[in-house]
Amino acid sequence: MVPLGLLLLCASLLVEVPSLSQGACSINPYCSDCTNYAEEGQTKWRFYCNPYNSSYIDSSHFTATSDTVDFFQVKYFSSSSTLAINSGAFRNVPNIVRADIRNTRSTNPSINQFAFFYGVQNNLRTLLFRRSYLTAVPLALTYLTALQELDLGYNRITGDPSNYLSYLTSLRSLRLDYNRLLSRIPASLQHLNNLRKLSLASCDLDQSSGISFGNLPTSLEWLDVYNNQLYEVPSGIGLLQNLTYLNMGYCGLNSLSVNVFANLSKLEALELSDNPSITSYLDVLVNQKSLKVLKLSNMGSSLTDIPNAISGMEKLEELFLSSNRIRGINHGQFAKLIQLRKLNLYHNKITSLDPLSFQNCDHLEELYLGYNLIHEVSPALFVPQSLKNLNLYGNKFDTFDKCTVANLLAHLQKTDTSISSDLFICDCRLAWVRKLSAAFGSRVRLSGSCYLPRELYGQSVTSFTLSDCSLEDESFESCNNISTTPPNTTTEHPPDFLNSSFVISAQLSSLKKDLQSIQAITNAAVSVAVIALLALVATIAVLLTCFFRQRNRVPSNGWSQGHVNQGLQLSEGVQSERSPEGRSSEDTVYQNTTETASRGPSADYEPFEQHRRGWKQQGGRYTSPVVD
Ligand SMILES: *[C@@H]1O[C@H](CO)[C@@H](O)[C@H](O)[C@H]1NC(C)=O
Ligand SMILES: *[C@@H]1O[C@H](CO)[C@@H](O)[C@H](O)[C@H]1NC(C)=O
Ligand SMILES: *[C@@H]1O[C@H](CO)[C@@H](O)[C@H](O)[C@H]1NC(C)=O
Ligand SMILES: *[C@@H]1O[C@H](CO)[C@@H](O)[C@H](O)[C@H]1NC(C)=O
Ligand SMILES: *[C@@H]1O[C@H](CO)[C@@H](O)[C@H](O)[C@H]1NC(C)=O
Ligand SMILES: *[C@@H]1O[C@H](CO)[C@@H](O)[C@H](O)[C@H]1NC(C)=O
Repeated sequence: MVPLGLLLLCASLLVEVPSLSQGACSINPYCSDCTNYAEEGQTKWRFYCNPYNSSYIDSSHFTATSDTVDFFQVKYFSSSSTLAINSGAFRNVPNIVRADIRNTRSTNPSINQFAFFYGVQNNLRTLLFRRSYLTAVPLALTYLTALQELDLGYNRITGDPSNYLSYLTSLRSLRLDYNRLLSRIPASLQHLNNLRKLSLASCDLDQSSGISFGNLPTSLEWLDVYNNQLYEVPSGIGLLQNLTYLNMGYCGLNSLSVNVFANLSKLEALELSDNPSITSYLDVLVNQKSLKVLKLSNMGSSLTDIPNAISGMEKLEELFLSSNRIRGINHGQFAKLIQLRKLNLYHNKITSLDPLSFQNCDHLEELYLGYNLIHEVSPALFVPQSLKNLNLYGNKFDTFDKCTVANLLAHLQKTDTSISSDLFICDCRLAWVRKLSAAFGSRVRLSGSCYLPRELYGQSVTSFTLSDCSLEDESFESCNNISTTPPNTTTEHPPDFLNSSFVISAQLSSLKKDLQSIQAITNAAVSVAVIALLALVATIAVLLTCFFRQRNRVPSNGWSQGHVNQGLQLSEGVQSERSPEGRSSEDTVYQNTTETASRGPSADYEPFEQHRRGWKQQGGRYTSPVVD
C-alpha cells in the first residue's frame, strides 16, 4: 500500500496543474477554441471564434460576464456570406481589450453603428480590421475613444476617410497602408495628438494633390510612406522632430534638398531604397549623425561608390547597400563605424576589398559580400572577432588561398562562412578543400564549380579528382608562415592597428596548436586503425568461410551501388545549395514570405516589410499578392 501511495503522489506531482483551461467556452458556445487564465487575481479570456453561421457576431453569442476578454479573434469566415457585426455585439463582454477581426473574406461587411457600444468603447485598446474589404472607416469606430491601436490596412478606403478618425484621440498606432485609393493624407489625422506610429505605405498618395506632412501630428515617431508617388520629400517633414523611423523607399524621389532631414535629430532609421534618382544627392545625409539603420538598396546604376556621407555616421549599426553598382571598398570608409553590426553589400560590382576595411568595426557580426566580382581575398584580410556570418557566395574567385581560410577560421570562433565561385581553376592550389571539414568542421562552406582545366569543367570544387597533389598541398600547416606584418598603409588609427595585428599573430599561433593536436590525434588514430585492420582481417577470414558455404544467397553488388547513389545525392545537395538566377538568400526569404502571404487568413502576422517585398517581387506595383 505504501509504495502504491508513493507512486500516486509522484504521479500527481508529475501532472502539472494547468494554468490555462482549454475549450472551456462556457461564455461563448460559438467559439471553437478558447482559453481562460488567471492574471493579477482576475479571470481573463481569450477567444478564437467562428462567427455564428460563419457570418455574424451578435450579443446573444455571449453569456454576460465582467471578466476581462484579453483577446477576441474571429476565425474561419465563409467567403460566400457577408460579415455582420450587430448592434451591441459585445455588450455581454464589455471588458474586451483586443479584437482581431482581420481577413474577413466577405465583401462589404456590415458593421452596425453601435457594434462597439454599451461599455466596450471604454475598454477596447486594440482593433485590427486588416484585409476586411472596408470601403470607408466604419462610423462605429468613432465611439472608441480609448482605442490605442487601429489597423485598417489592406482595405479599399478611398479619399479622405471622413472625419471619423479624428475622434480617436487616444490612438498611438494607426495603419492605413495598402488602401490604394487614398491619394491624400487624411486631414483628420492632425487631431490625433497621441499618435506615435503611422503607416501610409502603398496608399497611392499623389504629389499632385499636394502632399504635405505639415498637418501630421508632431507627436509622430514612426512614419512609413513606402511606395507612394511623392517625387520630393513633402514639406513639413522638418516639423516632425520626434521621428525616429522614416521610410520613404520607392517614392520616385527626384532630389533631396540640403538639410532636408536636418531637423530630425532623433532619427535612428532611414529607408531611402529604390529611389535611383537621388544618388547624387546623398551628401545631404552627412549631418544625420543619429542614424543607426540606413537602407540605400536598389539605387540604380549610378551608385558606384560607398556614399561619402556614411563614413561619418558613427552610430550606424546596420547598413544596407545591396543591388547597387559599388565597385570597391577602401579602408577609410568604415574607419569610424565602430558600432556597425550588419553590412549588406550583396549584388554589387565589388572587385577589390581593402584588407583593412573592417579593422575598426569591432562589433561587426554580419558581412554580406555575396554576388560580387571579388576574385581574391588577401590572407591579411582583417575580420573582427565579433563576426558571425561572412558571405562570399557567388563571387569570381579562380582559386582561394588556403591560408586565407586558415586565417579567417583562426579568427572567427562562431562564424558561418560561405564561399563560392564558378570560375575555379581546379588544380593543386585547391587540394586543401578535401581536408577542409576534417580540419575545421563545417564552419566554412566552400562550393562552386571548376572552370579550368577543361576536362574538369563544371565539376564540383569539393569533389574533383586530382592525383598528383602532395600532402603539403592538402595541409594547412605551411600557413603558420603567413606574414603577420601589416601592409604598409597609412592609417588614422595606428594604435588599433598594432593591436589588431597582434591579434592575428596570437590567433595564428593558437591555430597552430590546434593543428598539432589534430596531428597527435591522427597518429593515435593510425595505431588504432592498424589494430582494427588486423581484427578485420581475422573477421573476414571467418566470414569468407561462411560466404563460401552460402554464396548463392548473397546479392552481388547491392552494397556498393547503394554507396555510389549516396555519393551522388550528396553532391546534388551541394549543387542545389546555390540559389537559381543568382538570387540572394534574402530574396529567398521574401519568396517564402510571398508563399505564406498567399496562404490566406492566418498569414497576417509576418512583419510588414516582408509583405511589401513579397508584393513587389510579384512584379506589378498595383496588384496585391493577397487577394483572397
Ligand atoms: C444558419 O444558417 C442556416 C442555413 O444556412 C439557416 O437555416 C439557419 O436559420 C441559420 N441560423 C440562424 C440563427 O440564422
Ligand atoms: C517629443 O518627445 C519628447 C521627449 O519624449 C516629448 O517630451 C515631447 O512631448 C514630444 N513632442 C511631441 C510633439 O509629442
Ligand atoms: C525646424 O524646426 C523649427 C522649430 O524647431 C522650425 O521653425 C523650422 O521650420 C523647422 N525646419 C524645417 C526645415 O522644417
Ligand atoms: C617559411 O618561411 C621561411 C622564410 O620566409 C621559408 O624559408 C620557409 O621555407 C617557409 N616554410 C614553409 C613551410 O613555407
Ligand atoms: C612605409 O611607407 C613609408 C612611405 O610611404 C616609408 O617611409 C616607410 O619606411 C615604410 N615603412 C615600412 C616599414 O616599410
Ligand atoms: C590594445 O588594446 C588594449 C585593450 O584592448 C588597450 O588597453 C591598449 O592600449 C591597446 N594598445 C594599443 C597600442 O593601442
